Amino acid sequence: MMRSFDGHHPSLGKALSHLLSSGGKRIRPTVAILAGKMLDVEMEHLILHAAAIEMLHTATLVHDDLIDGAMLRRGIPTLNARWSAGATVLTGDYIFARAAHLAAQTGSLELIESFASTLMTIVNGEITQLFELEPDDLQQSYYDRIYAKTASLFEISTAGVALIGGCDDETYETMRTFGHHIGVAFQIVDDILDFTGDQESVGKPVGSDLRQGLLTLPTLLYLEQHEDGRNLARSLREKEIDELELEQLIDAVRTSPAIGLALQKAERFTQQGEELLTNMPATPERGALIEIARYVVRRNL
Ligand code: IPE
Ligand code: IPE
Ligand code: MG
Ligand code: MG
Repeated sequence: MMRSFDGHHPSLGKALSHLLSSGGKRIRPTVAILAGKMLDVEMEHLILHAAAIEMLHTATLVHDDLIDGAMLRRGIPTLNARWSAGATVLTGDYIFARAAHLAAQTGSLELIESFASTLMTIVNGEITQLFELEPDDLQQSYYDRIYAKTASLFEISTAGVALIGGCDDETYETMRTFGHHIGVAFQIVDDILDFTGDQESVGKPVGSDLRQGLLTLPTLLYLEQHEDGRNLARSLREKEIDELELEQLIDAVRTSPAIGLALQKAERFTQQGEELLTNMPATPERGALIEIARYVVRRNL
């Protein structure tokens, strides 16, 4: 990821090393490399794929933080906290291009196609989030949204490995579904942490979803238990709620059974993911993937 591109403006390199040195969990490339070793895929292509995935992820975060006006990520200031919107957008574009460049080096046209589709899915999801009017089915809309923004990238992390390894259709489908399930669980837990986590361990401000008018699973499950849930949901989406009410609501959700219920939903996904792996080669990497699936629903809770 750090490999330099000669002849490009040094600010791009600086921005890139600022972003990469801040770490992040690197969960997607870790999953990709483990899946690839489990399936005995050639290491050189695997690393290109894993680096491409993490780059794509990094670029979406650069643009996302600008769109969301977020000043903190991975415990350090975001690019948009320091730079103009213009410079931030362009740096994000550059990182997207580097992700594509890395993916192309695998020589797999199928992988490049999947990368392009995934990026379209992510952007379509973010645009839908910006423009969607009141959806009929709030939970369905939530699951569609988390597929687009998170599960789709986990899906290509694991399915992409089967593509570059030339695996059979069944293996491809198993790996794709495994990625999908841990991706959905990962995002549900991320949404729980927005209520129960603290800024220091999460690395980004918490309580921000409701402030942005975003109804995530804990809130939806909480509102289901309330007579006036549908109206409250509308006021939240329209941001017609004052700061004090908002604080009270965040507190109410945090201490309600909705948190435990949301966690159970996430656990169901990781359990199904684990079960899928029983058909895969019994290697140490398979064991590590199972550990990761479990970590996804346990991290910082
Ligand atoms: C953050 O992803 C964005 C989401 C999809 C929730 P991560 O929580 O994987 O971010 P880093 O890379 O570890 O910072
Ligand atoms: C970030 O989404 C992930 C993408 C845009 C793909 P969010 O805005 O919901 O996540 P955080 O809370 O900033 O990490
Ligand atoms: Mg955001
Ligand atoms: Mg966002």
